[in-house]
Amino acid sequence: MTQRIPEETIEQVRNQADIVDVIGNYVQLKKQGRNYIGLCPFHGEKTPSFSVSPEKQIFHCFGCGKGGNVFSFLMEHDHLSFVESVKKAADLAHVDVTLPENVAEAEGSAPRVTSEAQKMIELNQLAAKLYHYLLMETEEGYKALQYLKERGMTEASMTEFQIGFAPNHHATVSSFLEKRGADLDLAVEAGLLTEREDGSIVDRFRSRIMFPITDDRGQLVGFSGRLIDQENGPKYLNTPETPLFNKRRLLYHFSEGRTDIRRREEVLLLEGFMDVISASDAGLANGIASMGTSLTEEHIGLVRRIANRAVISYDGDRAGIEAAYKAGLLLEEKSRMEIFVLALPGGKDPDEFIKEYGAERFLEVYLHERMTWTAYKLFYLRKQRNLQNYSERLQYMDEALTEIGKLSQAVERELYLKQLADEFEISIPALKEQLQQKIVEQKSMPNRAPSEEDFLLDLAPPPDDFYGGLVGTQPVRQTLQAYHASEYLLMKAMIGSEEAFSAIHQLLDGLNFQHDEFQALYTHLMAYYLDGNAADPNRFMDYLTDPTLKNLISELVMLETPEEATTEEYLDYINSLKKQILLDRIKQKEAEASEKDRLGDHDAAKQALAEFISLRQKLAKGDYEL
Ligand code: GTP
Ligand code: MN
Repeated sequence: MTQRIPEETIEQVRNQADIVDVIGNYVQLKKQGRNYIGLCPFHGEKTPSFSVSPEKQIFHCFGCGKGGNVFSFLMEHDHLSFVESVKKAADLAHVDVTLPENVAEAEGSAPRVTSEAQKMIELNQLAAKLYHYLLMETEEGYKALQYLKERGMTEASMTEFQIGFAPNHHATVSSFLEKRGADLDLAVEAGLLTEREDGSIVDRFRSRIMFPITDDRGQLVGFSGRLIDQENGPKYLNTPETPLFNKRRLLYHFSEGRTDIRRREEVLLLEGFMDVISASDAGLANGIASMGTSLTEEHIGLVRRIANRAVISYDGDRAGIEAAYKAGLLLEEKSRMEIFVLALPGGKDPDEFIKEYGAERFLEVYLHERMTWTAYKLFYLRKQRNLQNYSERLQYMDEALTEIGKLSQAVERELYLKQLADEFEISIPALKEQLQQKIVEQKSMPNRAPSEEDFLLDLAPPPDDFYGGLVGTQPVRQTLQAYHASEYLLMKAMIGSEEAFSAIHQLLDGLNFQHDEFQALYTHLMAYYLDGNAADPNRFMDYLTDPTLKNLISELVMLETPEEATTEEYLDYINSLKKQILLDRIKQKEAEASEKDRLGDHDAAKQALAEFISLRQKLAKGDYEL
């Protein structure tokens, strides 16, 4: 039996789950005036135009227009149904309510999509459980279990990370799924099974230690399997690219590490799964790794929303040094995160380092011996050159000064200059002079890195002229703006109070809004009040299913407008709507007259012209009645 979530419970969650708290789990929010701002999770942007209002408990992105309340955020972001979003909000905000286990969707809310994707995730979950069981509990998994233990992995970690084992057999998963009546073709599509040339369907992963991979929402979208005895095949085998499994976007342990990343405002970038697990064991749960690909812009897009700093800890070998440099450059370009690099001695990766020197030593390096990004770049650039050679030495110094010149703090510049001066026995004034020249060159380049000042300036507020038209006591500049502004103000007033709704409804007297979505919202609002609901934009949103209407409401609510308007002002707004309708008609008549004239229908042309003139006269007199 399924039950409904009682309306009072929804109300309780709505009242108690703070939107800043909940969204803060996904977006790093900064206080800015009365609101919080951050980078919009719904579209790519480098400067924040995503605002969250704690007073109104509403979010709105002035960049892409998306908006809503705490529930619509979760529905949109995590692709949840309404009921699921209520549960999740309660969960994230620690609202103490009892929710029925099996809940039916409320009428009117969108039906839950049991899409193929959802089913593929469920197949993955089944397989993960099977793999984990095989590793922990069976004879077949014993060797793999011993191997992991020898490498220092605890059983607790194996359970936490749901590590599993795929035996060297072609039908472990396929027969398991078949017995459960699962759709095997879908399991092929999900990458769990593969179809052979003869048409038979077999397990994709064999003789491998299995790492389940979740996406940024924590959904189990695939696996990576590490060969256990070095047999044939690649060391790691991933789920093939599916609609769900996209390596450019996936980060191992991102969803699980999110809380820690946010808490530290810092993400630890690692290369391998084993590194992530060892770091987590050592107390650093903010570690993530890409799926054997280099770091992508999409990956950065995920982490930069919740972290201010990135600490790169890749393998200490040649390839790792290269990869760290590349990753750092991309981070520098695509985010405003502060970047650090851990240089581990002896070509070790973090997992090996922790095993050899212990967790405490790793934490020490992590906290106190991290290299700044500039220091790392200098180290890297120096490695590229043969410093015994005079001209290469000059080239290195030139490159080093370029990097030092990018620093905004004089103290920092001084520090690196001193190092350079010491290393090459050159006087600091000489270096300074050359640096000064560099800074001048760089300032004149258009592509200089954005500074903190830019950051503050280009916070994207709603366009200025828009507000000028709306809030201003000054006359609205253009008719188009005036009537659009009128629609906004009227709608905002009607959403905010039922009395305003009644008053305006009466004044409108059957007049339609010019924009369809305003008219649609108006119709819904009428139904909402007729149903006996009290004015509450936040509740009204849940009454609607169309996301574009929710976006419109959040925009209206976020707009700073004069507190309350009088009936007279409403009349002014309505007048400007009427004026717009009149203007439209005048245009229409004018077009009609010339069209009829062109067709040779002179009587009709005359008629249209007469109407055109009379409408123009009405307009001139300021009589907008239709
Ligand atoms: P161990 O050797 O068990 O310590 O694993 P590791 O994670 O340290 O492996 P390694 O440093 O060799 O590789 C780092 C990461 O690169 C792995 O975690 C994988 O994500 C990826 N990787 C390594 N080898 C392969 C491969 O053969 N194929 C694919 N697709 N990815 C690989
Ligand atoms: Mn390793």
